[in-house]
Amino acid sequence: MFSRAATRSLAPSARQFSSSASRNFKVAVLGAGGGIGQPLSLLLKNDPLVTSLSLYDIRGAPGVAADVSHVDTASEVNGYAADQLDAALKGVKVVVIPAGVPRKPGMTRDDLFNTNASIVRDLASAVAASAPDAHILVISNPVNSTVPIVAATLEKAGVFDPKRLFGVTTLDVVRASRFLAAVGDVTPKECDITVVGGHSGPTIVPLLSQNATGKGITGEALDKLVHRIQFGGDEVVQAKDGAGSATLSMAYAGAKFTNALLRGLNGEKGVVTPTFVKSDLFADKGIDFFSSNVELGVNGVEKIHPLGELSASEEKLLEACLPELKKNIEKGKAFVA
Ligand code: NAI
Repeated sequence: MFSRAATRSLAPSARQFSSSASRNFKVAVLGAGGGIGQPLSLLLKNDPLVTSLSLYDIRGAPGVAADVSHVDTASEVNGYAADQLDAALKGVKVVVIPAGVPRKPGMTRDDLFNTNASIVRDLASAVAASAPDAHILVISNPVNSTVPIVAATLEKAGVFDPKRLFGVTTLDVVRASRFLAAVGDVTPKECDITVVGGHSGPTIVPLLSQNATGKGITGEALDKLVHRIQFGGDEVVQAKDGAGSATLSMAYAGAKFTNALLRGLNGEKGVVTPTFVKSDLFADKGIDFFSSNVELGVNGVEKIHPLGELSASEEKLLEACLPELKKNIEKGKAFVA
């Protein structure tokens, strides 16, 4: 139904698709010293579309930058200390935000709200002041709330453009592909799954019926697979036993989404991938942010695709998703108001 080139491969593409497209792809990572930030910075250094990397954290970013800067790719790398946020954001086209605390066993993503809401709000304020035209990719949890927090903060500053704000839900897509491949005994390449809704437990809705292998999974096997996709993050949190949540697979997913956005900004056509954006799809239900397939283009969000056909069980999952998602979004908005 859609061109799914965006999520097919991590192998980054540097081909120029439009002579009018910008080639200044300076990317900032805010939270670059963390469990996600470090490997994400490394993967972005390896992306030929990134011309310059700005690494910022309240601790450790200059060290990470010095280390990553020795990798033999063309981009330049600079590290910034706690009091250098404005300098880090100067001239930046894309800002990726993995700053904030991760989960410990027994915690939900919403339990992170109290700490991460203000971190994300303050970083969004700085972006509004120093890089008001930047595209912002939010990784910090709870994504269902932190994205509305960033939107409301930018709105207050008078610089909000819904085409340039994205909640990164790519890890759910990556997990859906990997887990389905294991169940269906095929390769992940054959398991391109659209995951819609939000990014936490029951708000994660994988549309398995839209994939040839996924369609064949039914009954208890389907229930188990959906549960694993929705709560896959818990497997990592438990296995790390207090040392945090997904970092390496998240860095992979974050680099993959960043590359998809850069390809769109660079003029490549047909780059389509799920992401959590300001969306009218469920506006009639009072929900104004939603993850679905989005075409990425030279201005960011080019087109929000409808969900397509859903199976009866997916309709049920969507029904469970919507009220929870609405609550999460309202909590984010209320925080800024
Ligand atoms: P971490 O604790 O290893 O790293 C977080 C980093 O943020 C630290 O280096 C810390 O110094 C930095 N930081 C804190 N306040 C900051 C500020 N005001 N400005 C700049 N940097 C700041 O945590 P980890 O594992 O890297 O996770 C980061 C976030 O990503 C968490 O909120 C986690 O829940 C979320 N996450 C999101 C996923 C997704 O799919 N969207 C998946 C996995 C984690």
